[in-house]
Amino acid sequence: MKLLILNGPNLNMLGIREPDIYGRETYASLILKIKDYALSRGFEAEYFQSNHEGALVDRIQQAFFDGIDGIVFNPGAYTHTSIALLDALKAVRIPCVEVHISDVSTREEFRSTSYIRQACIATIIGRGTNGYLEAIDLLLKQ
Ligand code: DQA
Repeated sequence: MKLLILNGPNLNMLGIREPDIYGRETYASLILKIKDYALSRGFEAEYFQSNHEGALVDRIQQAFFDGIDGIVFNPGAYTHTSIALLDALKAVRIPCVEVHISDVSTREEFRSTSYIRQACIATIIGRGTNGYLEAIDLLLKQ
C-alpha cells in the first residue's frame, strides 16, 4: 500500500500560522508523526506540499503513473476554489480522503464549500493533525 500525503498552500506554515486555529505542531513534525505511523502500520508514503495549484495538479497526475493507492489531501484554501484539483482527482480515480485540521463547518461561510469533496471517499474535519492518521486508516481499509 503506497499513499500520497498531499498538502496545499500555507500548510508548510503549520506551527507559525494562526496557532489558535491550527495548533503549534509544525509541518515537519506532522510528517514525522505520519512516518512513525507508516512504520507501525506497514504502509509506504510519499509527501508533497505546494503553495501552487498547478504543482498540486501535476503531483496528483504523477500519482497515477507512480501507482499510488490512496491520497490524503488537505488542499488548504484551494479546497474552496479549485475545479482543477477536482478534475485531477476525477481523472486519476485514486481513492482520496479530504482532511482539514480545523472545523471548516463552523468558520466563515466560504470555508463550507469544497470543490474536491465530490471526488473523495470521505472528509475528516476538525480533528487537528490526528485527522491525517484517521484518513490513512480509512484508506488502509479500502
Ligand atoms: C484548512 C482549512 C482551509 O479553509 C484553510 O484555507 C487552510 C487549512 C484546514 O486544514 O483546516 O489553509 O484546510
